This record gives sequence, C-alpha cells and structure tokens, in this order.
Amino acid sequence: MAGIRLPPEESEVSQQQQSRAAGDLVSDDERSVAADSWSIKSDYGSTLDDDQRHADAAEALSSANFRASSDYNSDKEEPDAEGVSSMLGHQSYWDSAYADELANFREHGHAGEVWFGADVMDVVASWTKSLCIDISQGHFPNHVDDNKSEPVEDSNKYLSHWTVLDIGTGNGLLLQELAKQGFSDLTGVDYSEGAINLAQNLANRDGFSNIKFLVDDVLETKLERQFQLVMDKGTLDAIGLHPDGPLKRIMYWNSVSKLVAPGGLLVITSCNNTKDELMQEVLNLNQRRIDVHQEPVTSKDHEESRDLPFRYLNHVRTYPTFMFGGAEGSRVATVAFIRN
Ligand SMILES: C[S@@+](CC[C@H](N)C(=O)[O-])C[C@H]1O[C@@H](n2cnc3c(N)ncnc32)[C@H](O)[C@@H]1O
Repeated sequence: MAGIRLPPEESEVSQQQQSRAAGDLVSDDERSVAADSWSIKSDYGSTLDDDQRHADAAEALSSANFRASSDYNSDKEEPDAEGVSSMLGHQSYWDSAYADELANFREHGHAGEVWFGADVMDVVASWTKSLCIDISQGHFPNHVDDNKSEPVEDSNKYLSHWTVLDIGTGNGLLLQELAKQGFSDLTGVDYSEGAINLAQNLANRDGFSNIKFLVDDVLETKLERQFQLVMDKGTLDAIGLHPDGPLKRIMYWNSVSKLVAPGGLLVITSCNNTKDELMQEVLNLNQRRIDVHQEPVTSKDHEESRDLPFRYLNHVRTYPTFMFGGAEGSRVATVAFIRN
C-alpha cells in the first residue's frame, strides 16, 4: 500500500503543495517507498490487507535497525536507496508527509494514516483504559486476556484524573479514541507543525476541541509539566530510524522519564521493537542511572541517580502472533511501564 494514495488527477496538485511545504527534501516516491517498507498502517477505517507488505517491512526494518550509526556521517547526509527506511527518522520526512495529509484533509476531508491500523488503535485505547481503571481502583493490573475485563460502573470517574500526553501524536486520532473511552485531560505533541495543524483540524471537526495540541520535539521538550499517562504509538520507532538512532533513543528515555509523573504510566506501541526489546531498553536506562550512582557525585546528582525510572507493568496479549525462525512473535507490541 502506498503511503499516500490519490487519484491521478489529484496527485499533481498534491505534489506541488508538498514540494512547496517540504522544499523538495523528500520526493513523493521516496516517501511512499520508505513508508511502505517500514510500517503497518492503514487509512482510517480500512482493514489491513497486505501480509506481504508486513513481511517486507520486517525485512526492511531489520536492515534499517541494525545499520551502525557510523555508516552515516551527519543529519544532512542524503540516505541512499538502500537506507531509505531511515528517512522516517528525519523531521523533513514527516513535514512532507503531513503537508500532503493536510492537503488531503482540506480537499477531501480524509483523516490520513492510522499507523498499525484501526484495530490496533482500538485495542491500545481500550486496553489502556482498563489498565488505568485497575490502577485507580488500587488493583495490580490483571494479567488475563485484555478483552475479558469486566465493564466498570461509572468508569469516567476513574479516568478523569488521568492527565494524558500523546508524544508524536500525528493526526491525533489515538487521543480521539482515548476521549471516547472516557479520558478528558488530553494533550498531543508532535515536532511537525503540519501534524499538529491536521490533528487540531480533525479534533475540531470531530467534536473533540477540548484536546490540546502543541508543537514540541520530545527529545528537547519544552513541556514543564508531568502527565499520569504518556502514550507513544510509533514515535520511538521513528526516532530509532534516525541515523543517530542509538543516541536519540537515550535522549528519548531521559525525556520521557521527566514527562511521566511518579506512579504514572508510559504505554509504548511499536512495530519496530518486541516487548522484550523494550523491556531491555528500560533495564539499560536503569543501569545507566546505577552507573552514574557509582561515580563520585554531588548531593543533587545523588538524588537523581537513585531514581530508577521505569519498571515493566503489563503488555497487550491479544495481537495475532506468528512463528519466525522457531520463535513466536507479533508484528506489533504494546507495553506499559510504570514510573517509579
Ligand atoms: C509513525 S508516526 C505515528 C503518528 C501517531 N502516533 C499515530 O500513531 O498515528 C511517528 C510520529 O512521530 C513524530 N515524531 C518523530 N520524532 C519526533 C520527535 N522527536 N518529537 C515529536 N514528534 C516526533 C512524527 O512527526 C510522526 O507524527
């Protein structure tokens, strides 16, 4: 499936708009190839229909993921055809993509792509709701199949105190789903102004004008408050595809540890990392803090170094699984970590 699909007569207009907005940094063809080779996504409301694309994505991903950062020299270096997946780690890619999606929205009212598909988005929203209700009721989240949790009377009363931040919100549709589930204090940030523009327009159109949207780079966030629930669907994946991915990922974890309030949750949905890999990344983060602790430190540093940010809490168990190389896995992982 192409990243952006337009009837022929519309594509010319859209390409002109995209070129103006993105300064021709990324061509439409390159962008479509990059998107196709990277991720599981669908137009809003449509079903996933291309298993081969998923297999291709897994293959492209592993070559993109395991490319050493020293293979690239700088942020400005043009990726070659082989390294096309890494374009998704650049802001220019997203600015270009959202310029196009905004044009599609204005001309046709389209909401744009739902990364990983509408089914995954629904699962993420309802599963997160159950998790938050469990915690609000003082229960350790049950580790049973996610869709079997009992309906809770007056669930909104449990959800109203959850302040929610969606990092790399894109078109903001996940926040709309969370609003439908009963969350009310909702903020979305993205470093692409076009994404925020699109998300705000969609929220206004769909009756969710209470959702706040801000332009913010999560790696250098200007947000000064903390949130009880921080959502990430596909953003760490994109950040990890930057040529300096390993470094950016460390910046990511440092930043989200500041954004999630103590006792709050970080819920990451990824097609680029397994649950175990995400858990390992949290262990690495904790280890880095312990290592700092072992250095001679000032009293302020000492306080910070004792803070082991996250521990694993739960993960979605209902995504379809498949066998590959003798191991069982799913194409998408959603994992919740609790902030200590
Ligand atoms: C794969 S898309 C996912 C969008 C949205 N979360 C969704 O599920 O539809 C990744 C998003 O992360 C955003 N992004 C990437 N790096 C970012 C950063 N450092 N700060 C904020 N947003 C970022 C991109 O602009 C893009 O909207």
